[in-house]
Amino acid sequence: MPAKQTQLEGEVYYPSQEVIQQAVLKDWDELAQFAERDLEGFWEREAEQLVWFKRWDKVLDASQAPFYKWFVGGKVNIAYNAVDRHLLTFRKNKLALIWEAEDGKSERTFSYYALNREVNRMANIIKSMGVGKGDRVTIYMGRIPEIVFAMLACAKIGAIHSVVFGGFSVDALQGRIADSESKLVITCDGAYQNGKLVELKRIVDEALKHCPTVENVIVVRRTGHEVPMESMRDHWYHDMCALPIANGKCPTEEMDAEDPLFILYTSGSTGKPKAILHTHGGYMVGTYATLKYVFDINDEDRFWCTADPGWITGHSYLVYGPLVNGATVFMFEGGPAYPYPNRWWQLIERFGITIFYTAPTAIRGLMRFGEAWPNKHDLSSLRLLGTVGEPINPEAWKWFYRVIGKERCPIMDTWWQTETGAFMITPTPVVPLKPGSGTRPFFGQVAEIVDEHGNPVPDGSEGYLVLTRPWPSMLRTIYKDPERYISQYWSKYPGKYMTGDSARRDKDGYFWIIGRVDDVIKVSGHRLGTAEIESALITHPAVAESAAIGLPHEIKGQAIHCFVQLKPGFAPSEELSEELRQHVARHLGPIARPEEVRFIDKLPKTRSGKIMRRVLKARAQGLPEGDLSTLEE
Ligand code: WT7
Repeated sequence: MPAKQTQLEGEVYYPSQEVIQQAVLKDWDELAQFAERDLEGFWEREAEQLVWFKRWDKVLDASQAPFYKWFVGGKVNIAYNAVDRHLLTFRKNKLALIWEAEDGKSERTFSYYALNREVNRMANIIKSMGVGKGDRVTIYMGRIPEIVFAMLACAKIGAIHSVVFGGFSVDALQGRIADSESKLVITCDGAYQNGKLVELKRIVDEALKHCPTVENVIVVRRTGHEVPMESMRDHWYHDMCALPIANGKCPTEEMDAEDPLFILYTSGSTGKPKAILHTHGGYMVGTYATLKYVFDINDEDRFWCTADPGWITGHSYLVYGPLVNGATVFMFEGGPAYPYPNRWWQLIERFGITIFYTAPTAIRGLMRFGEAWPNKHDLSSLRLLGTVGEPINPEAWKWFYRVIGKERCPIMDTWWQTETGAFMITPTPVVPLKPGSGTRPFFGQVAEIVDEHGNPVPDGSEGYLVLTRPWPSMLRTIYKDPERYISQYWSKYPGKYMTGDSARRDKDGYFWIIGRVDDVIKVSGHRLGTAEIESALITHPAVAESAAIGLPHEIKGQAIHCFVQLKPGFAPSEELSEELRQHVARHLGPIARPEEVRFIDKLPKTRSGKIMRRVLKARAQGLPEGDLSTLEE
């Protein structure tokens, strides 16, 4: 509908003739209608474009819903589709990966041929350590090419990777290694962040004090600073590469379509982070098709997704989606504004980036430095832009559209989650855009806005966002915790997937995400749980109890604010507040450093002892406190 519909409400940006002419998919309506009529037929057609060792018997098995199965009986390997299959085509000599160091002093490029060599080498090495199908491997690295090799190598041999973002610290890393019972950790000596060294290997050493399942650690050299190596356990990657076992082809494991590909920990409403599980078959088809239609990927493109591989965006759209599509991926080690606020714009010009996918927080941060920085650069290679991670405020959208895209490049505002694996609500280039809206559900998907009881609310009203049809890249379960999978996502509205977001739908059927309705805080688009922050605080000797909440922040979207009740004998002070902020950063990671730690005599709680974070949130913003009937005396 959107492509033809001309009378849309509000501020609308229609695609130009040039954009429509170039788009792979010109008729949005036709495909949307087909997928609506024939969900399985739609996805089957996508799956047929990839290579299977054995074709599936059944596209979708919903007999044990919500434990849906896709491409049942099919044999496949996502790594084969991301790398090997391209070697049989002209893409063998095409660039798969272009990488640039933070300091700009080195640049590495890999053709698909070279990528295959690297993945085989890493796979041989991992395998020689006794890691095989179904074993878990934790990957904790900076943004360097070897993280891509490590993920693909695991996939190739059927091991389940668990990537932990390099911005997390000891407690978060340890909890994730222990929960996954990883046999192997792949890390690097250190990483650079805004010119500073982050000692990843030392953090691994600290974490491994309490992780008995880990037998080996592979250490990739990046920074070259000295790190302690434990004999027998720790191995330099370059030393392993010199061994004869590293050479030659490593066989690709023929996986069941439903075999796990990876787990990725993400924060939920309560308790410890959940290990979201994705599979070889469905995840492959989902990331492939969404990237193809939404970012219109083709062989001339140079695609840059600024996300870190440690998050789902990096998994789906920096590594798997683009490579399965045979695209050229650009990966940058550093952040947006180091050493100067033109770093990203300079890279777009230098590498001729055509599609640029980033986060609202980065756009807001860069906007602050003014237009002169991007205007120094020729950004004419760009043809499409994208954002993800949190709602984008129209002001930032318009800046991105005008200053970066020069009013030529449509912005794909993609709504999705770690759990969904791929885009769920998103435009394609031919869909008219409204700043701040992700427009409509992707092909085959139906989204609804419902009230507390699961009844649809009228258009224009706020409610809970649910998804009502299964999709191939959906999470299959929470690793080792199927009950939590059901209770978390499927029990509030039986038969419907609960997203945890609130949203509105307008008269044109466009969705407007408002934000999380649970205890998840989105700091610069990163997902953090109040429970994780609170459990880091509680390990400090002065803290009796604490509560973390997210409050609006101009650049980060939300910032973490903590309320702390001190133990007897400790007095509130500026120094203690600062110490507690550092404490959280040291334990959980710099991304979790609270904006502010305030002291409070008594936390507001319900009679059953639950902290009423919404009351704290309202008080902190000077808003009405709402219904207080459950507040304890
Ligand atoms: C939550 C999921 C999946 C990509 C990275 C985040 C929020 C994500 C958008 C968007 C408004 C968005 C939602 C969602 N979110 N994209 N385009 N517009 N909100 O994945 O860490 O699993 O977080 O991010 O609140 O539930 P995640």
